[in-house]
Amino acid sequence: MIWNQLLTRQLRVIEGRACREFITGLQAIEHLIQSFPDIENLSEKFEKITNWKLAPVSGLVESEEYFTHLANREFPIANFLRDLDQLDYLAEPDAWHDVFGHLPLLTNPTYSKFVETISQKIILTQGVQRQYLDSLYWYTVEVGVCQENGQRKAYGAALLSSFTEIQDALSEKPKVHPFDWQLVTQSAVKIDEFQNNLFEISSFNFLEELMKQLDRAVLVTC
Ligand SMILES: [Fe+2]
Repeated sequence: MIWNQLLTRQLRVIEGRACREFITGLQAIEHLIQSFPDIENLSEKFEKITNWKLAPVSGLVESEEYFTHLANREFPIANFLRDLDQLDYLAEPDAWHDVFGHLPLLTNPTYSKFVETISQKIILTQGVQRQYLDSLYWYTVEVGVCQENGQRKAYGAALLSSFTEIQDALSEKPKVHPFDWQLVTQSAVKIDEFQNNLFEISSFNFLEELMKQLDRAVLVTC
């Protein structure tokens, strides 16, 4: 019931707002997520498509555990769903955010390699470099926007899974900067409010470039 409401309105709001890679990925897995999925069952099917497993978790996971899962191509999925009065906003990620927001793009090889690579780097870093990479993850995987045929589209999971946030992100309100490594890595992560600043990549090919920069950027490791 709640899942169906979320799905119905989100399919409507992402039209013209989600990037084409997300739409392609969604088409590939849409039949698996028509209702609140059994995660174990979904994991088996999802792995055949993407070579990613799903790891059920019971709430907000510590950063170390979260990125260790991702570094091993296991996507953590919260084992609970928001209530009816939380359709628009929930402070912690639930199954809706994890499944609808994140899974479609993991069918894209470039994107999925990027998530795996940045997570492998994150768990090797500490201190200020860890913060830089947390920001990089946030402003790409969670609230990333990209150019597509002269239009701005969303590819970040926090945007794609939220009815209100995707509209706000693609309105005139936030300041959208061309992607800039320095600026992104030094921007604070804001998880509980609409974004004032977003960073736009020119295309998914740019994620390849970011992976090369990741190799060069990580100097201090644990
Ligand atoms: Fe997320």
